[in-house]
Amino acid sequence: MNDVSKKLRLVSGVKPTGNVHLGNYFGAMRQFVRLQDSYDCRIFIADLHALNQIHNPAELRNNTLEIAKTYLAIGLDPSKVTLFKQSDVPLVCELCWIFNSITSMSLLERAHAYKDSQAKNVPVNMGLFDYPVLMAADILIYGADVVPVGRDQKQHLEMTVDIGQKFNHVYGEVFKQPKALIGGEVRGVDESEIGTETGAVVGLDGRKMSKSYNNVIGLFDSMEVLQKKVMSIKTDSRGANEAKDPETDTVYAFYSLVASPENLSKLKERYLAGNISYKESKELLLEELKGFLAPIQAKKAELDANPEYVKRVLAEGAEKAEIEAKEMMQVVREKVGLALC
Ligand code: TYM
Repeated sequence: MNDVSKKLRLVSGVKPTGNVHLGNYFGAMRQFVRLQDSYDCRIFIADLHALNQIHNPAELRNNTLEIAKTYLAIGLDPSKVTLFKQSDVPLVCELCWIFNSITSMSLLERAHAYKDSQAKNVPVNMGLFDYPVLMAADILIYGADVVPVGRDQKQHLEMTVDIGQKFNHVYGEVFKQPKALIGGEVRGVDESEIGTETGAVVGLDGRKMSKSYNNVIGLFDSMEVLQKKVMSIKTDSRGANEAKDPETDTVYAFYSLVASPENLSKLKERYLAGNISYKESKELLLEELKGFLAPIQAKKAELDANPEYVKRVLAEGAEKAEIEAKEMMQVVREKVGLALC
């Protein structure tokens, strides 16, 4: 039975900023697929959020379609999940503005993305500063119960709850308190590390996998690129016959994402016993990665040939999402006094 009314609401999104990578997949997107039967899902492409980074229209359009195809290629089923483009429901910007009017600057000044940019002396536009408020609007306008995201988004979810509660306090109960479902590879994370890079899917250099660090493995990297990247993963200098530490090795961290439990425990034993070189463990990783990525890439190639289908899925999703957003905004407008009821 597919009784949507009894299911909890799941909401999440990915920014179309180029090259979807294993961090996005294992941190968040894999959960969308796993949970699509048990939750009532609203999954969108966060194109409005991407605007603070991308000012080239052709690039934004292309990236947006790429995320849509990625959603479908990893196995999201549009008959179960409402898939849409964030900007197709502009009411979210109205809710963002209403939230802006009750959100203190000091809350946003605590946001990690803003503080990082400040620390690096990178100029901050209002879109970046206001990012968490638009995110709160995304989540609350669709009445989310749960939000699957990577660990780096945990603070944004906490801010979402704060903003929703502030609204409820000022105007009366409207918004639920959504919970973050954190899906990244967690290694030794405690609460004090939230917002740091610990707990994220690691990249080729052992730091958090991130486009801005240029250390990503893309879901659609060609097999040649994959080979070069895997062979370039940083390791320590231990030789084939020296015992190695699976807890700190980046090759092993990747392997743990894509290998079966049996293969993983075999590799662990060989690491601990000191009977494998990093060259060989990289070769094993490459095989597993190829096996994991090949079906996703094949499905994506089919979708590349059918952009009209992809656009139709997004248009149908937007229609459904807009109806829900309108209902919520009717309530909100009445609460705040914008509706002359
Ligand atoms: P974006 O596109 O930057 O990231 C998409 C998702 O990928 C996760 N992620 C990671 N997880 C683990 N390890 C990593 N190395 C790693 N890199 C990225 C992110 O945590 C994220 O879940 N702000 C969101 C987009 C968004 C959104 C929303 C999400 C806008 N509105 C409302 C949920 C609900 C973001 O970071 O996208």
